[in-house]
Amino acid sequence: MDNQEINNGRRRFLTLATCGAGGVAALGVATPFVASFFPSEKAKAAGAAVEVDVSKIESGQMITAEWQGKPIFVLNRTEQQLKDLRAVDGEMADPNSEADQQPEYAKNENRSIKPNIFVAIGICTHLGCSPTYRPDVAPADLGADWKGGFFCPCHGSKFDIAGRVYKGVPAPTNLVVPPYKYLSDTTILVGED
Ligand code: FES
Repeated sequence: MDNQEINNGRRRFLTLATCGAGGVAALGVATPFVASFFPSEKAKAAGAAVEVDVSKIESGQMITAEWQGKPIFVLNRTEQQLKDLRAVDGEMADPNSEADQQPEYAKNENRSIKPNIFVAIGICTHLGCSPTYRPDVAPADLGADWKGGFFCPCHGSKFDIAGRVYKGVPAPTNLVVPPYKYLSDTTILVGED
């Protein structure tokens, strides 16, 4: 191998290394608090319950944890988002969460144990895509009446900020609330009642 070939090889390595670092940085932006939950790889594989530190979730922000291989949305709702829930009751297919989509303790007007912290399995009840958190109010693509919630890009299903499904969309039911409980004021355990 002459010097030219050695240099080319090194250049290729540097390019790959740079792409790799960029990829890690991008992932960090998409999942800002991925370090806030602590399942070991072994525990995750076994579907064990997962602890999530909710103290690091800023008001209005959502993180995604993982339980049994499924994305778990954990959202710290603002006062305004909770107020807006009541404004969209009439547009919901199941406003009072009558269908079996949540544990008994989350069968209330906010679909949660504490009003602000919302926990849901991040899988659309239509065909299983993962909805996008859309807290922006009245965006051009979702309409002037949109008060924030979750939008499924696969076939356009819409859910409010409590995961309740809008009338007239493909998804038949609300997002599922998994079993969970508080271990302390700031830590929840997803996967156990
Ligand atoms: S999978 Fe979400 S709308 Fe079809």
